[in-house]
Amino acid sequence: MSNARLGVNIDHVATVRNARGEIYPSPLRAALDAEMYGADGITAHLREDRRHIQDKDIDDLINNLKIPLNLEMAATVEMLSLALNCKPNSCCIVPEKREEITTEGGIDTIRNFEILKEYTSKIKNNGSRVSLFVDADQTHIDNSKKIGADIIEIHTGKYCQLIETDSSNANEELDRIIKMANYADSINLEVHAGHGITNRSIKALAKIDIIKEFNIGHFIIGESIFIGLEKAIKDIKSLILES
Ligand code: PXP
Repeated sequence: MSNARLGVNIDHVATVRNARGEIYPSPLRAALDAEMYGADGITAHLREDRRHIQDKDIDDLINNLKIPLNLEMAATVEMLSLALNCKPNSCCIVPEKREEITTEGGIDTIRNFEILKEYTSKIKNNGSRVSLFVDADQTHIDNSKKIGADIIEIHTGKYCQLIETDSSNANEELDRIIKMANYADSINLEVHAGHGITNRSIKALAKIDIIKEFNIGHFIIGESIFIGLEKAIKDIKSLILES
């Protein structure tokens, strides 16, 4: 049985809201409901182009949530200052490209080593934990440790896509995730995982008991159109707990 935490990513409630420029549906309402339905944390990505979550959403979440907020952010001066001001429980530093639809891969810890080290130290000294969103790759995991991160979040996008479309080829990617989760744990990094996770892909991932938290958004918000947010959260949480 896994006792991993479920972080619910509410970005796509904001996507729907912004599509019409209205004030509903409210990401804060989704987050408070998610809290009531058993989410262990809330994740929100404030992107540079503000395509979904807005600055006010982050203020609302900080002021109203009882469960931890994980702020996903790019390593930019603007986001650093925002993170230092709002002091979320954790900051997950992600790569960000304006032209991408979603976060396509983990952060390049080689090219960004110095800036990640500087930002990690500033954020940690300010009282938030730091997580780096990385591919399941030993170099990036070693660098995350050297940078001073508390946590790595392993990008599960490739595995999850294979499970949905070409499951006979998914095992190799799963093995890589298992091996790298164990490696990160062996050097005392807390291991989280996220991106593209569905009720199908969570089953094998939740069996990796080293993974302490899953951050899941798009699938939960999509499912909630058909079965409601409560059932969408409870279903995936049960799958985590049962594994
Ligand atoms: N974790 C991180 C670091 C992400 O960037 C995202 C996407 O914003 C997620 C988890 C959630 O991914 P999904 O919406 O595909 O479940």
